Amino acid sequence: MALPPQFLDDIRARVPLSGIVAKRVTLTRRGHEHSGLCPFHAEKTPSFTVNDSKGFYHCFGCQEHGSIFDFVMKTEGLEFIQAVEQLAREAGVDMPAMDRSARQSPEQKKERDSLYDLMDAAAMWFQDQLREPLGANASKYLDGRGLSNSTVSHFRIGFAPDSRTALKTALQALGFTDTALIASGMVIAPDDGAETYDRFRNRIMFPIKDTRDRIIAFGGRALAADARAKYLNSPETPLFHKGSVLFNLSGARGETRSSGSVTVVEGYMDVAALHQAGFLNTVAPLGTALTERQMAELWRLVPEPVLCMDGDAAGAKAAQSAAKRALGDLKPGHSLRFAVLPEGEDPDSLVQGTDGVAQMQTILDAAAPLAEVLWAGASAGDFSTPERQAGLRKQVFELAGQVRDATVRDYYKNFFTSKLDAAFGATSSQSRRQRPGRRSVPWANKKLSPSMGLGGEGADARRIRVLLATVVNHPEILDRVFEDLCSLQISDPELDKLSNEIIDIAGRGGPLDFDQLNTHLDSQGLSRAVQGLIGPNAGLAESFAKADASPIDAEAGWREMFDRHGVATRKAEVDAAAKALGKNMTETEFARFAALKAEADRDADDDPGLVIGSHN
Ligand code: UTP
Ligand code: MN
Repeated sequence: MALPPQFLDDIRARVPLSGIVAKRVTLTRRGHEHSGLCPFHAEKTPSFTVNDSKGFYHCFGCQEHGSIFDFVMKTEGLEFIQAVEQLAREAGVDMPAMDRSARQSPEQKKERDSLYDLMDAAAMWFQDQLREPLGANASKYLDGRGLSNSTVSHFRIGFAPDSRTALKTALQALGFTDTALIASGMVIAPDDGAETYDRFRNRIMFPIKDTRDRIIAFGGRALAADARAKYLNSPETPLFHKGSVLFNLSGARGETRSSGSVTVVEGYMDVAALHQAGFLNTVAPLGTALTERQMAELWRLVPEPVLCMDGDAAGAKAAQSAAKRALGDLKPGHSLRFAVLPEGEDPDSLVQGTDGVAQMQTILDAAAPLAEVLWAGASAGDFSTPERQAGLRKQVFELAGQVRDATVRDYYKNFFTSKLDAAFGATSSQSRRQRPGRRSVPWANKKLSPSMGLGGEGADARRIRVLLATVVNHPEILDRVFEDLCSLQISDPELDKLSNEIIDIAGRGGPLDFDQLNTHLDSQGLSRAVQGLIGPNAGLAESFAKADASPIDAEAGWREMFDRHGVATRKAEVDAAAKALGKNMTETEFARFAALKAEADRDADDDPGLVIGSHN
């Protein structure tokens, strides 16, 4: 039987070979490959390699070689089609319909179809119960929770009465067999052979649907405050494998595709309340944290699903673990974002409160990128010693290393490097590596205004003033000059304070415009300092620093001046060190001079127009 090649590719794309191999072999990563002890022959040193991007494993010892399907067939003793089925389950994809019916006996197919019918009949019956006198309390409860009739019928919310046999009897009357009732998970058969009974009793019932909008399970919320579980879900059944299912995925799909976004919340009630408030693109996992397969389902629809987290310690922890689980599967352009609710609220309570809809929208719009969330988690705490700083570096680089996509992995390393440098200053090896980067900005070679030259009293202080004026007038360049700004040594205390405030607010992330920055600086008592930099009497001669310069010119001018400033500062330092050495020829002074001179010589290499220290 032929399977469409596209279908097999889909499985390969969704299930990393290394993940399957890792269930049997302890793998260590070496560059693009993983290696470990070969499962096909006895060996003491690893010669078995797995290459995810090529989708092959190969043993240099015994020459075993093959694809993900070969691996599962050989290690589990399965036929090809069985291996494909197993991996399709792993990938959370359905086997192609033609082939499934060909594979299933007519009896099996009938049984499956009848299970769907059974679930639908159960949903209908639960809905009916809500309108019966016995359902009055349940109906009142839903009303009290703020759910409208139309929301209740949209989600086909129903009521399972407090009876051990009511559903069973109703479904038997419709012709469903005991075997089907048990297989569907709606009825429980005790081990001791005692009479079967209804699983869901005295609960509000939420139907759970598959991607094709068929009911495959239920979630039931207890009405009694003392119930053993507040929520009870269907067990695993032939229809229901909960790891890849999301509540309301089929219902949210249309809005998700058209708006390009989807929100993941914790509970069924949250989904219902958000839907009622107009947030139609909302889904929830089924009582567990979002699994990798559920993430994969969401990534088929949108590039950056937003996870809505509680604003407490548990929510922060859940965000960290979801972020880490997503790392391996990140791809260029596809990630997660994290929205944080006010402490003590869930989406249901928030959206039903005063101004709830607007607040919810604001929270969703402010959702933080995954990388920022990971950094915030890793960098919380005291990193005042070099050892702790090194420990943090190691930790975040290990996180970056978990990204399987090489491009995204590189960007994660860059991202963490900038964060570390911004927090603790660049280590010398890194700052040197970054130097050519500054020069490679294509628009960096701009004509310099005369006042940018070196020398003269206060040239140093003047450059600092122009650099600060530029970022005050152009906060939009802060993202890109942030690290360099952090590295400036500013001796004027007021300007130093101003610079620190800018760094502080820019470091919090998020967009920052001129008004926001100025309001912040005003609130810190710095309006006079700001006026001194950009006001009418500031004597700002450099056009790139002025408010009407284009962002490109502002950034190019900033970088050029920053480079000049660094060169000039180092030249001054070399001169001072040379003088000190002349007075006092010690090894320490000599080492200091040599280091500074080497640094200044690199400046000269970078810019042949400058000759430094020739009189030494
Ligand atoms: P919560 O306890 O946060 O409930 O569980 P909730 O959604 O706010 O519900 P209400 O507002 O009290 O009615 C969130 C989700 O966790 C799962 C359910 O899927 C629920 O929607 N859950 C919770 C369980 O599966 N079992 C439980 O006992 C509790
Ligand atoms: Mn709730």
